[in-house]
Amino acid sequence: MTDGEKPAARGGLFLSPGAKERILIRKPLADILTETEKGPHLKRELGPFQLTALGVGAIVGTGIFVLIGPATGNHAGPSIVVSMLIAGLTCALVALCYTELASMIPVAGSAYTYSYATLGEFFAWVIGWDLILEYAVGAVAVAIGWSGYFYNLTKSLGMPFAWTHPPSVCDPEGLQGCGIINLPAIGIVLALAFMLGRGVKEAINLNALIVIIKLASLAIFVAVGLFAFSGASFSPFQPMGWGGTLTGAAVIFFAFIGFDAVSTAAEEAKNPAKDMKIAILGSLGISSLVYITVAFVLVGLLTPTWGLSALGSSSSALADALGQHGQTAVAAIVAGGALAAITSVLLVSLYAQPRLFFALARDGLLPDRFAKLDPKSHVPKKTIYLTGFIVAFFAGFVGIGEAAELTSIGTLFAFVLVGIGIIWLRRHEPGAVRPFRVPLFPMVPIVAIAMSLALMLSLPFVTWMRFGLWLMVGLLIYSTYGLFHSRLAARKYGLPEAAPPPR
Ligand code: ALA
Repeated sequence: MTDGEKPAARGGLFLSPGAKERILIRKPLADILTETEKGPHLKRELGPFQLTALGVGAIVGTGIFVLIGPATGNHAGPSIVVSMLIAGLTCALVALCYTELASMIPVAGSAYTYSYATLGEFFAWVIGWDLILEYAVGAVAVAIGWSGYFYNLTKSLGMPFAWTHPPSVCDPEGLQGCGIINLPAIGIVLALAFMLGRGVKEAINLNALIVIIKLASLAIFVAVGLFAFSGASFSPFQPMGWGGTLTGAAVIFFAFIGFDAVSTAAEEAKNPAKDMKIAILGSLGISSLVYITVAFVLVGLLTPTWGLSALGSSSSALADALGQHGQTAVAAIVAGGALAAITSVLLVSLYAQPRLFFALARDGLLPDRFAKLDPKSHVPKKTIYLTGFIVAFFAGFVGIGEAAELTSIGTLFAFVLVGIGIIWLRRHEPGAVRPFRVPLFPMVPIVAIAMSLALMLSLPFVTWMRFGLWLMVGLLIYSTYGLFHSRLAARKYGLPEAAPPPR
């Protein structure tokens, strides 16, 4: 690259000479690892138990406690068990790919960092921007879901509707008008962000406690539910045919999201080579087993008077199903467990998002202030607070709407790129140290990509439109900021490099 070409290398038009080479610039694997050791990096303090709990904390929440109702009642019927298997199998294949990458590139940033090493900067940015959908938009949806459960549990105590719902939501019974602001959603987000800003240890320990509570409440559901179980409700098994089973899989996919959040903690793992494997695969395995059992028992609890249509419109399916069999006390325990479960999903989303900003800023694709670590807590405190404020703002004023589907499409897209990334790396860096290798290569990543695409295609067109719009905003930010501030490009093309991010 000559001096005359430097401006195009720095930024310039996408179509200018050298632009393709510039935007597809790759960060060599070795550089990623050395940079992380020498530059600002996160403290390695998490062991396999905490990391697995982090995964289960991120996975088991809104999906199994809330979305299982509409997924079963409106789409899959009793074949929800098969929908779960399809969604779970897709995630298992993707989890194997994540495990290979996370143990090989144990730095913050997850799929974003892996794409930087494989598909190049442009795709890395796209994936980083896309992951914001998973974590931040997902956190908005989950916070609103939390608030819904909170309201249901406290409305008999006089909790006002207006202060617990956004303006777009009105009381379905028509007694209390419409919402003004969703204060519980704002409150829970800010409280968790504050806790995360004080350091990882406290938050992670709280998460481990919540994980025990939520698994216990699901175990209680299964144990008590089995006494009222009836095999008769399994027929017809697929009331809406295979189409219903597949749509059910796309809807319930949301319940499995989160195992990949473990990989965002790779830079904080004491022994990433071993711990990533245990935590990613372990958390997904535990959750899948629990989900399939819960789905099986839930279908067995349906009655001729409380059937699929009632389940489809329930937002607290598990508690309601127990309530139908006179188990109101146990139903209240399960509802409490649900609240705890959704809290930990929110906690992990709020944990993962600032770490993604941190990774993007460390590479110069976002302003440096996002990569600044707090000297005392060793976490990107200001970024955590900023994330908390943004998520809290949206959680306070928007309805849950299609947020879950937008989260799912963003996550599935990341899965596709991770699958491509793993194939690319095996071809181009065959000698790199791989503490874990995906078995049956390349079959596993290829099937993982195909199944993720199939689930994406089962999502509504409007979700695709929103997703497209989101990517376009990301493109605008990259072409006006990242392209001009990328540290990697500055180094490669000999341009004056931006100062390293402040410590
Ligand atoms: N899997 C997470 C949940 O179900 C996102 O809440």
